[in-house]
Amino acid sequence: MIATAVLLCGCSDSRDINKDNPINRELITIGFSQVGAESDWRLAASESVQNAFTPENGFNLIFDNAQQKQENQIKAVREFIDQNVDYIMIDPITEIGWDTTLEEAKEAAIPVIIVDRRVAVKDDSLYTAWIGSDFEEEGEKACAWLKAFLDAKGIKGRVNIVDIQGTIDSSAQIGRTKALEAAAKRYYNWNIIGKDTGEFTKAKGREVMEKMLKTYGDAIDVVYCENDNEAFGAIEAIENTGRHVGENIENGDILLISFDATRAGLTLTLNGNIAVNAECNPDYGPKLVEMVNTLENGGTVPHDQFIEEEIFSAKEEIKSIYAGGERSDVTLLTQEFIDGRKY
Ligand code: AHR
Repeated sequence: MIATAVLLCGCSDSRDINKDNPINRELITIGFSQVGAESDWRLAASESVQNAFTPENGFNLIFDNAQQKQENQIKAVREFIDQNVDYIMIDPITEIGWDTTLEEAKEAAIPVIIVDRRVAVKDDSLYTAWIGSDFEEEGEKACAWLKAFLDAKGIKGRVNIVDIQGTIDSSAQIGRTKALEAAAKRYYNWNIIGKDTGEFTKAKGREVMEKMLKTYGDAIDVVYCENDNEAFGAIEAIENTGRHVGENIENGDILLISFDATRAGLTLTLNGNIAVNAECNPDYGPKLVEMVNTLENGGTVPHDQFIEEEIFSAKEEIKSIYAGGERSDVTLLTQEFIDGRKY
């Protein structure tokens, strides 16, 4: 009953920690603190966890949606400790601010697994394991693609870039922004003219893009959207001004780079609205189940683990341009691939 109730409202806006319901102690109880429901990626990640930690698989899942507020995550973790869950899992909104809460979990002898984003704590033994993305590498791949693309087109003049950042201080924002800023330092003609947070949402992405268009108008060549939902908002804002989203930046197009490679994001990549899309894999559920089962059987799991990710472009000519650049691992996107994608 508890698990069913929790599963049903996992993606809603309400938090759901029901302290009054008894926990079935024959199952392994997982307290999962999720960031929120801000993006398609996030919904897919929640679904993956909820589909994996089921009573049929031997688990009670207590799932909490923190609505993008770290104070809610801290409250949820404390409630998990009070409930004496078997494992605490946290997808942390921001990297900082976790030492005390994780010390409390350690004192209660509850293992903590960090998922997707990271925590910056003084003592790494405060958590048993982390599994997630290399966000900086995602950014580096996207920037390497842009460099190879500009080189192949012979564009040597100033390239003006707008960065619609993710939630400030989240690992995904830190890594992706860092990669862009490093590339802009390396390539003298790359110029980041504006940056602001779109908080990983479509609404905020559109709002930031509208503001950038008002401020910089025709000067904008490239928009680096730190996730797909921001790209959806940015495309709407750009098209509302009559400008075209595409690869012909020499003729006034605005070229869009995005991250996540969700189904909707890849569809826009195949259409040519997004030039390149760096994958961020949300399918954590089965990996987390495997980790818990290993630990339950007395095994060990790696302390830090990256998951495999690809980068997608839709056009053969862009793929080969990229292959001539610093990296050659771009995957050519097809409709068939999108049809087979889970999220
Ligand atoms: O932490 C992963 C990021 O968070 C994804 O890129 C984004 O869509 C999400 O909200």
